[in-house]
Amino acid sequence: MTRDNEQRLIQKAKEVLALNDMGGWTRPDPGLYVHQWLWDTFFAAIGQRHYDIERAKTEVRSPFRAQWKNGMLPHIIFGDAEGYHAGPELWHCERSVNAPDSIQTSGVTQPPVAAEAIVRVGQKLSREDRQAWYREMYPKVLTYHQWFYRERCPRNDGLPVIVLSWETGMDNTPPWMYIMHRFALGLRTQIMQQANATAIMEHFRKDTEVVPAEERISTIDLYAVYDIIRTLRKYRYDGDKIMHKHKLRIVDVTFCCILIRANELLKEIADEIGEELPDDIKHAMYVAPHALETLWDSQSQQYYNRNVTTGRLIKIPTISTFMPLYSGVLPKERVKTLVAQMHDPETYGTPFPLPTAPVNSPYFRATRYWQGPSWVNMNWMVADGLERNGEEHEATMLRTSTLEMIDRGGMYEYFSPLTAEPAGAKNFSWTAALTIDMLAAQ
Ligand code: DGY
Repeated sequence: MTRDNEQRLIQKAKEVLALNDMGGWTRPDPGLYVHQWLWDTFFAAIGQRHYDIERAKTEVRSPFRAQWKNGMLPHIIFGDAEGYHAGPELWHCERSVNAPDSIQTSGVTQPPVAAEAIVRVGQKLSREDRQAWYREMYPKVLTYHQWFYRERCPRNDGLPVIVLSWETGMDNTPPWMYIMHRFALGLRTQIMQQANATAIMEHFRKDTEVVPAEERISTIDLYAVYDIIRTLRKYRYDGDKIMHKHKLRIVDVTFCCILIRANELLKEIADEIGEELPDDIKHAMYVAPHALETLWDSQSQQYYNRNVTTGRLIKIPTISTFMPLYSGVLPKERVKTLVAQMHDPETYGTPFPLPTAPVNSPYFRATRYWQGPSWVNMNWMVADGLERNGEEHEATMLRTSTLEMIDRGGMYEYFSPLTAEPAGAKNFSWTAALTIDMLAAQ
């Protein structure tokens, strides 16, 4: 890419972030996601830190205004905008004793990239300012991490249990959709399916007014997700009830890897300000790498999610198999195996990597949300992991093809891994923010 091209991309990216700037926080896009989303926020800050460090700090602080009393950071914080398809009236979070008093949120979380953003912002500060920044953020992010081990980790093995596909951020990722249909379909959705009523239900969807239906989660999957939200709401988002009664409890590879990495970053923060991590976090950091190994299937050479209810791996491959690179605890001898898979044209070796489902998967659709398209945040994390595992060249190649995809298609939400055709939301904040960050890393 020429220098001019790079400058043009940075300019465009800043425009997208300005368009989505809601004052103290950034929405993912103007049409589809008009409130605040958790991991989107932290990715936005990772871009903003390159040109406005104070704004980036404000961004990182912003989700903590809605931190639940038990420490959870909710995946959506609702603002005033109207027209979102899964608003506060679906969640009814006021039914939980832990929900914040004066702000409306969703009742689940999203991948914990908070510590990543805190450290990335810290890298841009003087030593003194960084220490002040870390002192401010440490107790808040620590409480968040501790929530996982208190409420979501019944086996005490360092791996959190996830209870809704939206928590993974990969809303319709194949293994989750499979398990949801098999074990957790609500009565209402079953009836709808049997009566072949999905075509009618399609008319009630708000999201497909903004983005073509074939690029979004399918109607049946979406209504099944709504049903699961209603179940969580019935439990009043009570951690104990959810861990004992909920039908959908999954140990999710991507989520685990992000939390494992986040704890490492939390330790970096703590070390710099002379704090000692509490025992629950130390224990989790010690045991999680062993537990992560139990998600590896040596026969197919892939990492898979585990269904907690049956104890079995869900052997449906996805991009998650590469996330142990990001976790930082991947056994050395496995790095080359994963790199080879990234280049295999039968699976993940697409012209514009990395597909979220391998091309030989029956689920694969080039532009359907998390069932095939390449996503910039996943590539960003995998590239970061490759680099930390000594694969600098691979990391640069992955970033280069990601930037090429964005250069061709624009600041879209996701892209066809086959042609780079853009899809989903048009002015997407984390695509913009991570474009700026990847250009800085090249
Ligand atoms: C949506 O609205 O589809 C979101 O991705 C849920 O988090």
